[in-house]
Amino acid sequence: MRRDAHLEEDKEPIPNMRLEGRKVLLREFRREDLPLAVEYLNHPDVAAGQRIVIPFPYRIEDVEKWFESLDAHSEKAYAFAIEEKSSGTFIGGWGLEGITPHHRSAEGHIWLGMDFWGQGCGTEAVTLLVDFGFLQIGLNKIKMCPFAFNAMAIRCYEKVGFKEEGRLQQEIFRNGEFIDQVMMRLLRSEYSGGPAANG
Ligand SMILES: CC(C)(COP(=O)(O)OP(=O)(O)OC[C@H]1O[C@@H](n2cnc3c(N)ncnc32)[C@H](O)[C@@H]1OP(=O)(O)O)[C@@H](O)C(=O)NCCC(=O)NCCS
Repeated sequence: MRRDAHLEEDKEPIPNMRLEGRKVLLREFRREDLPLAVEYLNHPDVAAGQRIVIPFPYRIEDVEKWFESLDAHSEKAYAFAIEEKSSGTFIGGWGLEGITPHHRSAEGHIWLGMDFWGQGCGTEAVTLLVDFGFLQIGLNKIKMCPFAFNAMAIRCYEKVGFKEEGRLQQEIFRNGEFIDQVMMRLLRSEYSGGPAANG
């Protein structure tokens, strides 16, 4: 497949894509993942990191509505469920959104259930999708936009090679306070493969 196949006008998005690392498998979302997604996203520390507005508390009806409308691999977005390979457990979600074929850019969003934090799963999942974005669908720039307090997410993205481009001061008002947002980017020319790619 040509590296930029997906972003060429006459090419179809890639269906049923699976990306496999040492610890995690990125696969399609399944209906049976939904109760765990609700459980994970209802933890306040997981919900706190989400920039996109997810209802809180998150109900099974909310996630079912999202699932019914999900176009997992479209021209504008890719959404993957994250599975821990050793146990076969669904542990979170990760996707690229706002893909603009002309500019070849996209923004990523990732979340893991709290029991799976800090074990390298996030770094590997980000690396797998970044590889996919640059090498298979032809992106030139991928953005991550964590909140400034989210040191774990910032460190995770830095390990893959993301750099800070700047901070949006008091960008979000939530729970009675204004929150700064860190704009991070990885360019295709800067990417040499993260820890997962390098073994
Ligand atoms: C952000 C997230 C995806 C990261 O995934 P993860 O699997 O926990 O991350 P990893 O284990 O691969 O890497 C985390 C790194 O942060 C470091 N870290 C942990 N707590 C930290 C802290 N308070 N300050 C700085 N670094 C910290 C870890 O030590 C590790 O770095 P190291 O390998 O150099 O030691 C995950 O924590 C998560 O889902 N959080 C909740 C949702 C969220 O905030 N999503 C991001 C929205 S932008």
